[in-house]
Amino acid sequence: MNNHPISIVIFGASGDLTQRKLIPALFNLYQKDRLPEIRIIGTSRSVFSDQEFRDRLLESIHKFSPDSYHEKSWNEFSQFVYYRSGNLTEQQDYQKIAETLTELEIKPTNRLYYLAISPEFYHETVLHLGKSGLARQKSGVNAPWTHVIVENLMAKIWRVPKSSMRLSTKYLLKIRFIE
Ligand SMILES: NC(=O)c1ccc[n+]([C@@H]2O[C@H](COP(=O)([O-])OP(=O)(O)OC[C@H]3O[C@@H](n4cnc5c(N)ncnc54)[C@H](OP(=O)(O)O)[C@@H]3O)[C@@H](O)[C@H]2O)c1
Repeated sequence: MNNHPISIVIFGASGDLTQRKLIPALFNLYQKDRLPEIRIIGTSRSVFSDQEFRDRLLESIHKFSPDSYHEKSWNEFSQFVYYRSGNLTEQQDYQKIAETLTELEIKPTNRLYYLAISPEFYHETVLHLGKSGLARQKSGVNAPWTHVIVENLMAKIWRVPKSSMRLSTKYLLKIRFIE
C-alpha cells in the first residue's frame, strides 16, 4: 500500500453497472471521506463531453442513490470526473487514455482499470492495456501500483476461454474478481 492518488479508468462508462452501482458507490465513499485523492476517467464508444458525462452521472445518482445526493459534495466530486470516447478494440483509443492520464497525473499515481464491460472484451482490453504501456507496473517499495478489476459473476468468468485468461496475464498485474 502507498499514499499515492488513484486514477480510476472505467471501461464501459456509459453502461448500467457504472450508472447503477459504481459511481453511486464511489460518490458515497467520497462523502464519507473514505477515498484517497482520486480522479475518474470514463470511457466507452458513446460520445460525451466531460460535462455531459458528469450530468449523466448526476442523473444516475438521482435515480439509484437519491438519498446520497448533496449538491456541494457532488460539485466537488464531479470535478474529478472526465470522459474520453473510445472503442475497446482500437489500439489508438488507448493512447487517448494514456495522454489524458499523463496530463492529469502531476505526481506518482496508482492506476485502477475497472472493466465494467462484457466478458468477451476482457482479453482484448487487457492486451491493449499492455501494448499501450498502460499496464506497466513500476518497481520499488513505494512505487505506484496498477490493478485491473473485473466485476462479474464467477459463472461468467468460466465462460471466458482459459487460453484467453492465460494470455491476458502476460501483461498483468493483478486481476480482482468481484462477486
Ligand atoms: N449492471 C449490473 O448491475 C451488473 C452487476 C454485476 C456485474 N455486471 C457485469 O458488468 C459488465 C457490464 O454490465 P452492464 O450491465 O453495465 O452492461 P451494459 O449496460 O451493456 O454496458 C456495457 C458497456 O460497454 C460499452 N461497450 C460495449 N462495446 C464496446 C466497445 N466495443 N468499445 C467500448 N465500449 C464498449 C458500452 O458503451 P458504448 O455502447 O457507449 O460503447 C457500455 O458502456 C458485464 O460483464 C456484467 O455482467 C453488471
